[in-house]
Formats: sequence, structure tokens, C-alpha cells
Amino acid sequence: MSRDPLIEQARAAALKAYAPYSKFSVGCAIESVDGEVVLGANMENACYRLGICAEISALTAARQAFGLDKVARVAVAGGHVGSNGALAGASPVTPCGGCRQAIYEAADLSGLDIEVISSNGDGTETIVRTIRTLLPDGFGPASLADAG
Ligand code: THU
Repeated sequence: MSRDPLIEQARAAALKAYAPYSKFSVGCAIESVDGEVVLGANMENACYRLGICAEISALTAARQAFGLDKVARVAVAGGHVGSNGALAGASPVTPCGGCRQAIYEAADLSGLDIEVISSNGDGTETIVRTIRTLLPDGFGPASLADAG
């Protein structure tokens, strides 16, 4: 059992993933600057390329609940559903490149360097980074300053 409640919320969210093709369930919990939490999970599709990641799912919920500019922390956890019904897995799940880009968008809006916590399925191993570390020299809204 991990200590940070946001990781446990991400692990619980993974249990509601729809991942019949990869059988890799990912959950994401996003906390606002005011402590509000929203959840998301990956959702796959028979047309494989239409699947969406847990982070994108949670970011859309964050947009609805409190706005992208209020995102403070993002926790991600992934693995398989074990025989006891809990998420399990040894390796921490760091956000894919596309999800880093989406988190970067939120960070650029607020100017906050969002904390990203990557957990393994077991909840026993974590990697904690900020989005600017995960995506250095990223391209975001501020990068469009010279548009016509
Ligand atoms: N996945 C996520 O939900 N987030 C990530 O950051 C990495 C990958 C999902 C996509 C797909 O449904 C499954 O994990 C296997 O790639």
C-alpha cells in the first residue's frame, strides 16, 4: 500500500479501465491546486488506434471540474488486475509522449510545473518528476507567441 492517497486513487481508477486488447490497465488521478481530485482510465477500441490514455481521460475530467489551469499533481498507475481484484505490476508507468504534451499544455496555461507521480501497479514503486523534467524544452501555448 502506497502512502500518497493520489496514487491509491490512480490505482483504483485503473480497475475501471477498458483495456480488453492490451490487457494493460492504466489509471490516472489529477489533483487541483485546491485539493479536488478527478479520475480517468484508458479506454481502448476494436479500431485499435482510437484508444485513449488514462491521462487524457483524466485531463478532460479536470477541464470539466476545475479547469486545466488549476492542475497541480498528476498520478499514474498501470499494470494488470490481479487475482485479488487489485491493480498489480512491478514497473512504474510513466506518461507516454503524447500525454506529456497534454500535461505540458496545462502547465503552460498556469505557469505551474505540474508534479507527475508514476507508480507501478502494486503501488510500491514510484518515480516523481515535474512535467518540465519529463518534457524539456516543450512546445506549448507560449510557443505560439510569434503567430500572426
Ligand atoms: N496507456 C495509458 O493509458 N497511458 C500511458 O501513458 C501509456 C499507455 C495505455 C494505452 C493503452 O490502452 C495501454 O496503456 C497499452 O499501451
